[in-house]
Amino acid sequence: MPQQPKKQTIPGVHAKKLQGSPIVMLTAYDATQAALVQKAEIDIILVGDSLGMTVLGYDSTVPVTIDDMVHHAKAVRHGAPDTMVVVDMPFLTYHQNIETTVRLAGRLMQEAHADAVKLEGGAAIVTHIKALVQAGIPVCGHLGLTPQAVLHMGGYKVQAKDVVSADQLMDDALAVEQAGAFAVVLECIPSVVAKRVTETVRIPTIGIGAGEFCDGQVLVFHDVVGLTQGSRPKFVKQYAALGDSALDALKAYRDEVVSRRFPDLDHQYNISISEP
Ligand code: KIV
Repeated sequence: MPQQPKKQTIPGVHAKKLQGSPIVMLTAYDATQAALVQKAEIDIILVGDSLGMTVLGYDSTVPVTIDDMVHHAKAVRHGAPDTMVVVDMPFLTYHQNIETTVRLAGRLMQEAHADAVKLEGGAAIVTHIKALVQAGIPVCGHLGLTPQAVLHMGGYKVQAKDVVSADQLMDDALAVEQAGAFAVVLECIPSVVAKRVTETVRIPTIGIGAGEFCDGQVLVFHDVVGLTQGSRPKFVKQYAALGDSALDALKAYRDEVVSRRFPDLDHQYNISISEP
């Protein structure tokens, strides 16, 4: 029997940083995608609140709810029982009181069997990160372009482009590390800033649009396989064109039904009905 790769752990990702072995993370939002990601032996699945755009058809992550995240994280867990799953805490679920933060993160752990949660923000949310870690809930941080703050940022733009904001990001990374996060996602920042953070903090940095010096990389499933409609950011690399193949298949299906070429003899039950 083929050997099942062992599920990644927090000590495992820390060891990867020390060994200089890149950590691979990819998003997934349902059981089918998660099963593929697990088969590809990717270290970590992120159930990102990007599901608002990739799956639910919103134009940002802001409308995504905790119920949405629980629902999709459950499906991902069913599809990938042997892969580490990190789940995003969506907009406004960790900005009220600590009890609410712990209760809602607890839903992701207990109902969806997540291995960790991810929160966007730095020094401003360290009390929430600390409370989660103390409650036994592993936390991944997220700095740089934080999509839940897109209204403040005025769009999806490269962050930390000047010395002041790069220093601020460094301070936030240290704050998130000190609060007990086991890793931090760095999104859409200059490579040189990500390099400085990666060399300074002891926890792994996982970059998306943050360049080659991070300890790991994360991309969005739909971008990697070519299911994303419209323009893509510069940092996205598309490895397949499933959207184009799917469209060809759908058009061929429609044409064959309309022209009565489907179903043909190979795709129907030509069984004579026997007398009782
Ligand atoms: O929601 C998401 O997919 C993310 C990644 C972009 C890191 O947070």
